[in-house]
Amino acid sequence: MDRHLFPTRSLRGTLRVPGDKSVTHRGLMLGALAQGESWLYHPLKAGDTLSTAGVMRALGAEIREEGAHFRIRGVGLALKEPGDILDCGNAGTLIRLVSGLLAGQEMFTVLTGDASLRRRPMGRVTAPLRQMGARIDGRDSGRLAPLAIRGGGLKGIRYELPVASAQVKSAVLLAGLFAEGETEVTEPAPTRDHTERIFRHYGLPIEVQGNRIRTHRAQPFAARDLTVPGDFSSAAFFLVAALITPDSEVMLEGVGLNPTRTGLLTVLKEMGADLSWEVTEGQDGEPVGWIRARSSQLKGVAVDPSLIPLMVDEIPILSAAAAWAEGETFIPGLEELRVKESDRLEAIAKNLNNLGVKTEVGPDWIRIFGGSVQQGRVEPFHDHRIAMAFAVCGLQTGVTVHDAEWASISFPSFWEDLDRLRGKD
Ligand code: S3P
Repeated sequence: MDRHLFPTRSLRGTLRVPGDKSVTHRGLMLGALAQGESWLYHPLKAGDTLSTAGVMRALGAEIREEGAHFRIRGVGLALKEPGDILDCGNAGTLIRLVSGLLAGQEMFTVLTGDASLRRRPMGRVTAPLRQMGARIDGRDSGRLAPLAIRGGGLKGIRYELPVASAQVKSAVLLAGLFAEGETEVTEPAPTRDHTERIFRHYGLPIEVQGNRIRTHRAQPFAARDLTVPGDFSSAAFFLVAALITPDSEVMLEGVGLNPTRTGLLTVLKEMGADLSWEVTEGQDGEPVGWIRARSSQLKGVAVDPSLIPLMVDEIPILSAAAAWAEGETFIPGLEELRVKESDRLEAIAKNLNNLGVKTEVGPDWIRIFGGSVQQGRVEPFHDHRIAMAFAVCGLQTGVTVHDAEWASISFPSFWEDLDRLRGKD
């Protein structure tokens, strides 16, 4: 479906963004493994996390939607062998994390997903899980889904992550809950630490020492309620929208401000953004607070590559900010963007060019020449974040967003929230 956005003059108001996608996936999985009943409050209910609810139900958990929340009855560590293949839809986090869980279970499962997911690299999880003793097969020798997993009999390993990936770290740690001995993961750079925090919330074994994270076999653990913070990655679209639109001020409330997620705030500040934020509470192990953004004249910057893992999902919206900034913005360290929901580096460059913005692209970097955004068309390439980021980029000039429904993978109310803040109900 095409969505036509007429030029926006100002954005004003307060917004509570939907629940965090990463925390919702993990909350559903661990709630499903716990013993007894718990509530997952304010989860994200969107394409990706509904896929996780479906998969965990097929594995024996009872998951009911009650109002805005989920009520979960867990199985107490032993999942049930499903009668059919498991469909992970578009969700990379689901297929990679659940592979770790299934590697630990004495049963046979097959995981698949949509065309985008079936193109994404799975060797990064199947390699360590095989080292732990799981039998895993898949297309291209286990590098691509569908994956067939015969789990059980795992032994702990010491694993150095070849890429800075929270999904791979989490898959190995989840498998470690079912493995004999200790499992240790070493990260080349810090990545989001929601798995470590949620393990602590449930009293599961976890020890963090610098860049080394250790776990070991878990005993059955009791169900516990969990409240999901607002998704920083969803908030990012609106905070950049407010910065680049004249006469704007947006307040975002109840947002997760986990420092392994907020690299974008550091970069935007350096670009001259009028931004403030504050952590107001610790909610079930995650820092939560507010962010306020006001119209700002941004200037281009060279981004420090060590910040990229702390803002890996925000590169599309950072590119939109760079398009409105004065001068050049250089973003290095982007090799992982090639294997996200789309080839995001390519998708960013194509959309910027459609909107009249000049770019140069290398294998793992992009240079954006800001200051010349024109009216145009947004092509999401089946990628939710590309659709939302470039809708924001074209707000002032007006844009047509092709296949706008892709936003619902992570942010079903995005278009309504946008209309409310720009005063068009
Ligand atoms: C996620 C980790 C990141 C991120 C994804 C969610 C997670 O992926 O891009 O949207 O919840 O662990 P990688 O770990 O592959 O970088």
